[in-house]
Amino acid sequence: MHLGQDLLYLSQSDVAAVGLTMAEIIAALEAMFREKAEARVEMPPKIGIHPAPDAFIHAMPASIPAQKAAGIKWVSGFPENSKRGLPYVTGVLILNDFETGIPIALMDATWITAQRTGAATALSAKYLARPDSATIGILGCGLQGRSNLKALHVLFPLKKVFAYDTHPDRAASYAQESAVQFGIEAIPVTDPKQAIVNSDIVVTAGPILRKPHATIQRGWLPEGTFASLVDFDSYWHPAALHEADKFCTDDVPQLHHYRDLGYFQNIPPIHADLGELVTGRKPGREKPAERTIACNLGLALDDMATAPLIYERALENGIGTWLPL
Ligand SMILES: NC(=O)c1ccc[n+]([C@@H]2O[C@H](COP(=O)([O-])OP(=O)(O)OC[C@H]3O[C@@H](n4cnc5c(N)ncnc54)[C@H](O)[C@@H]3O)[C@@H](O)[C@H]2O)c1
Repeated sequence: MHLGQDLLYLSQSDVAAVGLTMAEIIAALEAMFREKAEARVEMPPKIGIHPAPDAFIHAMPASIPAQKAAGIKWVSGFPENSKRGLPYVTGVLILNDFETGIPIALMDATWITAQRTGAATALSAKYLARPDSATIGILGCGLQGRSNLKALHVLFPLKKVFAYDTHPDRAASYAQESAVQFGIEAIPVTDPKQAIVNSDIVVTAGPILRKPHATIQRGWLPEGTFASLVDFDSYWHPAALHEADKFCTDDVPQLHHYRDLGYFQNIPPIHADLGELVTGRKPGREKPAERTIACNLGLALDDMATAPLIYERALENGIGTWLPL
């Protein structure tokens, strides 16, 4: 590597081949959220363009001085892509040298986005879910459905997953795959309620919509359950959300920003952000019967906590292609 002369290009398969584990990503995010709680990071609000309804392309810069991390992710989400057999979320990430600002790596960000979002759910669950949580309901059996289960499996003694997807074949193949990968019982269900009423943990990961489809009704979420809203409040009837004893997020200003754009028009008061939970400034779960919710919006900081680890390990293992600057 010659600073200022070339940069390391890492394709999606290169990024995956680096072999960063979910446990490592969860730990990196926890360290980053401690920094965030001390206001020692920089992350301007997401800016973006919206070429189609409910579609976005966002610019997500961030810096974490303690991790010598600086860079930007340029990420898109197009709900109609799945009809064309294309991924909903795709993107690239540029990593800059922390001392000079010079670009040092360009990498696919699809893998990072999936993994760090799962890791953020698991980190929230560490503070908000019952430690003995054993059953989980996944609504939306795509990339996030997979990475969220993978991350939660690192921290919880999961025994059974209920899988729901509007495409029953996707729920079926997800269940088959999860049973093999994690050695747990996996049950595809055809009614979203079946994925919720017997679960200790619920993850909703369908499309993000400005106007929620509000499928989940009051009375469905059992006492003692933790829910992660990867797709914002899209899945939830406001009355169901208001059953939560603690509603948390990863970044309050970002949530307010989305609210100004028309999302989150009827949500409970925010109990804590994730930095406050990991530093103990605000309590996580206090009683077994509490219903807790994390609505993590996905932060540039999550990506920037993860990308340098991938870069360093790629260097160590000679993975990637050098491109002239
Ligand atoms: N909060 C964050 O940090 C964050 C980060 C990345 C992605 N996301 C969001 O997560 C969601 C899932 O992303 P992905 O990459 O897994 O997409 P994906 O296309 O891989 O999977 C989405 C799945 O949801 C299914 N689906 C569609 N509508 C459904 C519904 N009403 N109920 C159940 N299933 C439904 C689809 O059939 C598909 O299998 C998207 O909304 C995306 O914007 C959030």
